[in-house]
Amino acid sequence: MPWRGPALRNSTKLNTIATPATDRSRTVNNPDQLIIFDTTLRDGEQSPGASMTRDEKVRIAKALEKMQVDIIEAGFPIASQGDFEAVQAVARAITDSTVCALARALEKDIDRAAEALKEASAFRIHTFLATSPIHMREKLRMQPDEVVERAVAAVKHARRYTDNIEFSPEDAGRSDPDFLCRILEAVIDAGATTLNIPDTVGYAVPEQFGALIGELMERIPNSDKAVFSVHCHNDLGLASANALAAVMNGARQVECTINGLGERAGNSALEEVVMAVRTRQDLFQCDSRLDTTQIMTCSRLVSGITGFPVQPNKSIVGANAFAHESGIHQDGVLKSRETYEIMRAEDVGWSQNRMVLGKHSGRNAFRARLKELGIVFESEAELNDTFTRFKELADKKHEIFDEDIQALVTDTGLAAENERIKLISLRVCSATGETPEATIVLSVDGKEHSATASGSGPVDATYCAIESIVESGAELQLYSVNNITSGTDAQGEVTVRLERGGRIVNGQGADTDIVIASAKAYVNGCNKVMQDGTKEKTQV
Ligand code: KIV
Ligand code: ZN
Repeated sequence: MPWRGPALRNSTKLNTIATPATDRSRTVNNPDQLIIFDTTLRDGEQSPGASMTRDEKVRIAKALEKMQVDIIEAGFPIASQGDFEAVQAVARAITDSTVCALARALEKDIDRAAEALKEASAFRIHTFLATSPIHMREKLRMQPDEVVERAVAAVKHARRYTDNIEFSPEDAGRSDPDFLCRILEAVIDAGATTLNIPDTVGYAVPEQFGALIGELMERIPNSDKAVFSVHCHNDLGLASANALAAVMNGARQVECTINGLGERAGNSALEEVVMAVRTRQDLFQCDSRLDTTQIMTCSRLVSGITGFPVQPNKSIVGANAFAHESGIHQDGVLKSRETYEIMRAEDVGWSQNRMVLGKHSGRNAFRARLKELGIVFESEAELNDTFTRFKELADKKHEIFDEDIQALVTDTGLAAENERIKLISLRVCSATGETPEATIVLSVDGKEHSATASGSGPVDATYCAIESIVESGAELQLYSVNNITSGTDAQGEVTVRLERGGRIVNGQGADTDIVIASAKAYVNGCNKVMQDGTKEKTQV
């Protein structure tokens, strides 16, 4: 008999709101649905070095839409012109998920969010204001009464644009529950339809956080008019556990990110929350509508675009998540898979037969495999470019795996967008007892330049040669190489982190030759770090 944990407390109210069928964020006429709100493009992008271009955000948003995420938080439009345009582009591209934008509890923020979202099929405005004593006193310098007044005014202002409004009392995890009850009751009366309880600084622990959600739903008289949501940070490694405790106590929306990306230690990982709820249906009285077979595609896409590698032992999406090393485990799994596996790898998108294509594969087979991986190109030209690169790779490497294809696609995207500096060629001499030397040819703004430099190793020589041409002045904070697949003919994927004037960017490159991969990563990073400064975000 499987262990059954505590059932949902009898007294817990489950809140639902009837909504138009087109708005996926509020189709919770039944308490069995767990709404998945993905904030990879907003909170995830707040990780230092994880900034994404508009086109990258659209690619991720489409993958999230394909996975059937209910709400996609696309950005914070007031933060920068770049953020505004990215939210606008996501709003135009997405039809099956609700697109959301963040706004402080200020009219100008809300107006900007509404402007960016106006072409979306369905949209939500998410406004927030801090409620913890320390934030109200030190950051806002406002009295609690003023905070309530401003939150109510913000929600009323947002209602000019939509009736799909989310309010977050920032730092709720350290706020007084009595004050939370007061402000949340007031914003529901003003028209908020989702109340998101953030543990902004990752201070909560599961039992206590779950009890807080239950208490709020119990005590707030009009709580049945809103959906309760949670947004947890991972400073103590408890973000997913806290979110799940909240769901057990009645929350019906979870805010999360792919691979747990996010400010500082990150947010609840979407794949962890979704798979925990799906796997433990004996405990949870709800489920998401996600197509979990898309999880790996989303994970690789986000990792590729941001340059944040996934640790091998990461749950669900790490390379070892379904690998069995010990003989006893292998023996057990061969006899009956359930002996050591609680989920099926293929249910989260790990393919069974990972060898997909070779040098004789044609364009149609390539296109079909891309489609299976959920990769759609905007234009035939982009597909052709990637196909040419696939053929080049297949000449060097006989077996092309899904991971290779994902890396090719990321590489094509990087090359297409970062036009200022391009790698034309690289020649490196490295021999025992000699100082390595690199000669590089780059195109900068369409003009070819070449340089030769020596260094302590081939990568160092290459970076010195690149720097002597581009003069980025950036400091290299991190350099890492991962093999994309196994074997000595595998592609190496290099990630660099560059810092200039307080701005941090990640660059990435993949190639079967790791020195060339290193050059591509550095060039990619330089293109980002030397971008127009008007795209900088305002600090909020
Ligand atoms: O962590 C936080 O409090 C947030 C809010 C804006 C929801 O990201
Ligand atoms: Zn957050």
